[in-house]
Amino acid sequence: MDKISTNSSDIDIGLIIDITLRQRTFKQDNMIFTLPPLPYAMDALEPAMSQQTIEYHYGKHLQTYVDNLNRLTEGTPYSDRSLEHLILTTTGPIFDNAAQVWNHTFFFDTLTPEPVRMPSELEFALTRDFGSVEEFKTRFKKAATEIFGSGWAWLAQDNAGRLHIIKESNAGNPMRAGYKPLLTIDVWEHAYYIDYRNRRGEFIDKCWELINWKRWQKECTRTC
Ligand SMILES: [Fe+2]
Repeated sequence: MDKISTNSSDIDIGLIIDITLRQRTFKQDNMIFTLPPLPYAMDALEPAMSQQTIEYHYGKHLQTYVDNLNRLTEGTPYSDRSLEHLILTTTGPIFDNAAQVWNHTFFFDTLTPEPVRMPSELEFALTRDFGSVEEFKTRFKKAATEIFGSGWAWLAQDNAGRLHIIKESNAGNPMRAGYKPLLTIDVWEHAYYIDYRNRRGEFIDKCWELINWKRWQKECTRTC
């Protein structure tokens, strides 16, 4: 994990992850991990994110991670554990696929086809920790474009309530280091190559138009 932050607070590794995704257990009675519902239509994010991108990214890539996780955990004690448990306690292929299911679900949940104005509480928190909202976006984009190869850029909160921009490679998730994820942008090439080819920075700029800031408000206002 490569952290970029204005603060250097000690992190409580035992920070309780209380993400609304927990309510979506990804489990059915047959105890298999399932593809979470997409919270909008396949073409709802166009033109910033095309239907074809969603069909591949959600319908094929995320489905593959779900299928891999079921195959890897079938008949093991991991099969009835939460994604968060697997992310925090495993390594290797089980971690990789569990984290990719969680990360993608969080990412797709963070987007919305309806423009959402950033609540004032969030403007305050971003200004407090990064100087301004624009400076936060500049630094987040820089971090996201600097990730070498595949990975995720995160906005995450430490146990003191401070916000941090964190770079993670591959399936990385900052909850493993005790941070609470608030926002992420997927910078694996499969997230943007159909629409933007190699122009990752342009993809990130367009993602700002799709962020559902109100979703983040619920997570942030309790502790920011
Ligand atoms: Fe992805």
